[in-house]
Amino acid sequence: MSGPGRDPRVDLWTFSLTAGSARLQELESWLTPAERQRADRYHFDSDRYRFVVSRGTLRQIVGRRLETQPGRVPIATTPQGKPVVVDAPFELSLSHSAGLGLLAVGKVEHLGVDLEPWTRAQDMAALEAIALSPGERHQLSELPDALRPAAALSAWVQKEACLKGRGTGLLVDPRTVEVRVDLRQPGRLIRIDGCGREADRWTVQRLAPRPGYTAAVAWRGPTVPILARTFQPGGCSP
Ligand SMILES: CC(C)(COP(=O)(O)OP(=O)(O)OC[C@H]1O[C@@H](n2cnc3c(N)ncnc32)[C@H](O)[C@@H]1OP(=O)(O)O)[C@@H](O)C(=O)NCCC(=O)NCCS
Repeated sequence: MSGPGRDPRVDLWTFSLTAGSARLQELESWLTPAERQRADRYHFDSDRYRFVVSRGTLRQIVGRRLETQPGRVPIATTPQGKPVVVDAPFELSLSHSAGLGLLAVGKVEHLGVDLEPWTRAQDMAALEAIALSPGERHQLSELPDALRPAAALSAWVQKEACLKGRGTGLLVDPRTVEVRVDLRQPGRLIRIDGCGREADRWTVQRLAPRPGYTAAVAWRGPTVPILARTFQPGGCSP
């Protein structure tokens, strides 16, 4: 894993998961044989399509940063599934949901990002028992009813960003990460594995990448500037 660099900053790229046939062909041409095999293993065409668009776009964004061809970006995957750019002085994290992709790239440690459409808030009541810690459920119970579904979803994206930053994703119980639930206050990690001191070492920021979506980015370390941008396939390097 990369450590923090001399110029810590997190770039957040939003991008569309919709591509015309010419663009799709271009994106697919950048995938490695192993990535194409992975794409072909998806049962549903929609999942295959999403993987090709998001992985190809990730390659293009990182390729511009490294000033190399998208197809030459050396991407590996940790045993738990987190993508990493081999020998790069930065980390990355990817999330995709409901037609939108969100990629975080930055010289920080344990970078993680998660994105959900607000429509998912209605599912949270059924998931609270397995997704939220007792402390988070207590915080929720103190909120007015009307604020609870959005607060629960926002808590979810914060904790998933942290779990993705740690590289475990949902291989560990999401209740081991506890966050501040009240949307009227800034996002914050309260406990990780029961430890408040470890949580205090983390930064978590709630994001609104597009109308209709909520997201969070997290990393282990102090606050650094976040630069949020929309990725344009035909655009120039930043
Ligand atoms: C990571 C995880 C939380 C993502 O859940 P999700 O909300 O459905 O999906 P998101 O769109 O937010 O994130 C998916 C992306 O997270 C990344 N990811 C996958 N596993 C990850 C992990 N352990 N840590 C960090 N990031 C991970 C990948 O980039 C993935 O996109 P890709 O498959 O197109 O490369 C969930 O897939 C998970 O926990 N998986 C467990 C890891 C796993 O099953 N590993 C199997 C061995 S490879």
